[in-house]
Amino acid sequence: RIINVILSGGVGSRLWPLSRKSKPKQYLPFFNGKSLFGLTIERNKSVCDEVLLVGSTQNIDLAKAELKDIPHRIVQEATPRNTAAAIAFAAFTVDPEDVLVATPSDHLIEGNEQYLQAVKRGIEFAKDGFLVTFGIKPLRPETGYGYIESEGNDVLSFREKPNFETAKEFLKRGNFLWNSGIFCFKAGTYLNELERFDPKLYNAAKLAFEASDNGVLDEELSLKIPSKSVDYAIMERSDSIKVVPAFFDWSDMGAFDSLYEYLINKGYKHDEQGNVVIGSDKPTFFLGLKNCIVVHTDDAVLILDKAHAQDVKHIYEQLEKDN
Ligand code: GDD
Ligand code: MG
Repeated sequence: RIINVILSGGVGSRLWPLSRKSKPKQYLPFFNGKSLFGLTIERNKSVCDEVLLVGSTQNIDLAKAELKDIPHRIVQEATPRNTAAAIAFAAFTVDPEDVLVATPSDHLIEGNEQYLQAVKRGIEFAKDGFLVTFGIKPLRPETGYGYIESEGNDVLSFREKPNFETAKEFLKRGNFLWNSGIFCFKAGTYLNELERFDPKLYNAAKLAFEASDNGVLDEELSLKIPSKSVDYAIMERSDSIKVVPAFFDWSDMGAFDSLYEYLINKGYKHDEQGNVVIGSDKPTFFLGLKNCIVVHTDDAVLILDKAHAQDVKHIYEQLEKDN
């Protein structure tokens, strides 16, 4: 069987105050009335037999509401332990021969046909026992992504979140792709590689999984799992990786700069200096400001210079501390 593992764990703190712990960004109906989570389900349903959601107990009802018409199973995390563990929980749930298409729930992808073509190719490699990544042509020396050094479908190296200098070097060398964050492999292949490269993480994840109660992972045992992403735990180390170069439009709606770009491209209202207002119809005027974003919600206002989009998470962290 082919299973769409949807990872829905992050809070989306760089999109505060739109995104909250109780309602993370992937559930906000911002994209023609649909959420990124809903779009993820739709995009994958023609190639996958079912959805296996791995997500936080805190907002599981939002996920359930969107999954109701789709065959699905759910693994609930009592506490987030990052993606290496989240994917392991999915792999423990299914048959080792099942193929997992693991997708983030917070990306915007346009070009469904190219997407499905890439995934189908990926599934073939996965059946042959490879760990499959999907590579995007890099547009800038972004430091928040993984980089795949490749030759055709072969992967020479994988490097997660390089520093700016290294990222620039990768772009200059030309044979590097961005890791899209979508992966495909047989559940058994994944677990074998995890056990080989990080036995501690593997064993801790297995214990927490085996102590699940009603589909909810054991919290105390979960806290013992090292919090590591699949990129560091496996992709940087394994030599069984393939890459499928992908030609769909892809953006990680991680922060307000990407959301801004998306909205502007869709013709969203902005003034001559590129200032926009989200979440309010009140007439709003900007003097002496350029490329600013004002975000209103019921209980908070954010005034942001787009260039500082990545720093929004610090506000979130501060508020968490104060509470
Ligand atoms: N269930 C669950 N549990 N999901 C999680 C957890 C967790 O503990 N942590 C993260 N996720 C989900 C997030 O919600 C997101 O959908 C996905 O896993 C990826 O996590 P991010 O935290 O957004 O990763 P990243 O953006 O820093 O890096 C990854 O994605 C980049 C592309 O967007 C890496 O794979 C990079 O290599 C890649 O370039
Ligand atoms: Mg991300």
